[in-house]
Amino acid sequence: MAAVQELADRTKSDAKCYIDPTIGKDDETADGSESKPYQSLYHALLQHLDKPAPTYLTKIAPKEGSTDAPAWEEPAKSALKKAVGRVDVYKKKLAKEQAAANKEEEERQRRLKNLEEAKKIVLMEDESLPAAVRIKLNNKDVTLGDGEIKGTRVKVYGRILNFRAQKSATFLDLKDGYGVLQCVLQAGDLTKCYDALMFAQETALVLYGELRKVPPAQKAPDNRELHVDYFKVLGSAPSDLDAISNKVSRQQDPWDAQMLDNRHLVLRGENASAVMKLREAVEMAFIDTYREMEFRKVSPPAMVQTQVEGGSTLFKYDYYGEEAYLTQSSQLYLETVIQSLGNVWCLEKSFRAERSLTRRHLSEYSHVEAELDFIEFDDLLEHLEEIISLVVDKILNNPVSAAYVKLLNPDFQKPSRPFMRMKYADAIEWLNKQDPPILNEEGNLHVFGDDIAEAAERRMTDIINRPIFLTHFPVEIKAFYMKKDPNDLRVTESVDVLMPGVGEIVGGSMRMDDYDELIEAYKKNGIGHEPYYWYTDVRKYGSSPHGGYGLGLERFLAWMANRHTVRETCLYPRFMGRCKP
Ligand code: 4AD
Repeated sequence: MAAVQELADRTKSDAKCYIDPTIGKDDETADGSESKPYQSLYHALLQHLDKPAPTYLTKIAPKEGSTDAPAWEEPAKSALKKAVGRVDVYKKKLAKEQAAANKEEEERQRRLKNLEEAKKIVLMEDESLPAAVRIKLNNKDVTLGDGEIKGTRVKVYGRILNFRAQKSATFLDLKDGYGVLQCVLQAGDLTKCYDALMFAQETALVLYGELRKVPPAQKAPDNRELHVDYFKVLGSAPSDLDAISNKVSRQQDPWDAQMLDNRHLVLRGENASAVMKLREAVEMAFIDTYREMEFRKVSPPAMVQTQVEGGSTLFKYDYYGEEAYLTQSSQLYLETVIQSLGNVWCLEKSFRAERSLTRRHLSEYSHVEAELDFIEFDDLLEHLEEIISLVVDKILNNPVSAAYVKLLNPDFQKPSRPFMRMKYADAIEWLNKQDPPILNEEGNLHVFGDDIAEAAERRMTDIINRPIFLTHFPVEIKAFYMKKDPNDLRVTESVDVLMPGVGEIVGGSMRMDDYDELIEAYKKNGIGHEPYYWYTDVRKYGSSPHGGYGLGLERFLAWMANRHTVRETCLYPRFMGRCKP
């Protein structure tokens, strides 16, 4: 009420302020004059907070049907009271904001002063302490202090994963790509010096101190902690708007533009880096398993002049005036060396110009390919089951790689053998028998000869929920080089390996080993056979029944690490930065 009275007292000036609720404006185009009135009394009051109060006049529209001119009248008491109430709320909010800003500024000044003081603290290594031994953070071969027992004095390099500055001590979790170590800096110069006050996630530093067991009932990685006696910052990291946590976060969709632009920072995260470490373990497991199986590793070219999997996905380029491509698959090259090297394999990049942004397609992917000489189709299937199982065993039997699987895909189960085998024709029947049926891309029941599209294939795999060897695809929907099944010439001796959650991870087949049949296949597929003369020659010089396969490494990883898209298994999916289809 006092505020209304105050306002009433203040409305004794001669100046007038006009308010027209119909055509007035509550913005800078209005000035409260009769020709440029405000729209609301509240806004008009706000304009005079620190000025002498005018007489407020509100436009009153004439009654309907009346020919009277509109009149300007002083606002009713109730309207005035309501508007003043709102102004009061606004003033309180303003005062609160001002107080907060003052507090922030005080805090900033205090911090600046602290920082200036902190700069005077110079940390020095205590020369009387034992010389520190440099260790990586996964090194467990170090004596831990416990009670009276002294632990080894070590020197560790790394970056801050996270830290908590408490009254009694600052705790930081240090990471170095090999492990994580809790470091304790007791309150004192160590925590009050300038560098300690500037700690941020990703600050790079070296710390010295005694490694000790964590006290009972406390938790830390590997149950140990570093009691820091000296440290040096080697590379600072921002803690303001540029802080890494403001740039990328686990909550963000990994495929939004900001996350892609900041892929280099995303890779600092625990999950993304665990995927990369698992990827290395998988590659090494393939290398070891093939070596144990006596397969030779070869390095076929990436720049080629032959297609393998159809012209539509070729990346073309100009090779000194001739058309050439980035390889889609090394298969043709592998087929030409088994004669002298025995069974062979490779792990190379393959390239597919697939513009669609699906969960499982990349333009550049890592392709594990193998070729086996003197085999039958069943041998190929047996071998595939064996290699997948052995690689999985290697990953799970190694505690380090098994820990990555546990972190990324805690429910992962090693597939039980034998893997399910299903002929393409039976799969078509299976899809149609579901209730409701799983339809083809045109929305119809599947018929023999249809490509089983990605969505249908994945639904089938997810329902069956175990690895499937899908075999004997029709000749028409498979590549030119695939051998026909002698018992049913409509189909090929081919196999796709399907995994729950991902779908196809392997494509393989027996190869056409008859010269004339291959020439016929080039013609049927509209492929000019001249550039393939070296491949065709395989059928001329001691041809043999042989077969092989290609396994998409990223798809294999997406399966083991339960990643939603294969892109999450790559350092830099396609190109650095935005991933535009
Ligand atoms: O089924 P594909 O096209 O088979 C071949 O290239 C054969 N020449 C391989 C061979 O027999 N040596 O591809 C094999 C595998 C697929 O099962 C899939 O895992 C992966 O390669 N793949 C892709 N992975 C990521 N992005 C793409 N665009 C891929 N295309 C195929």
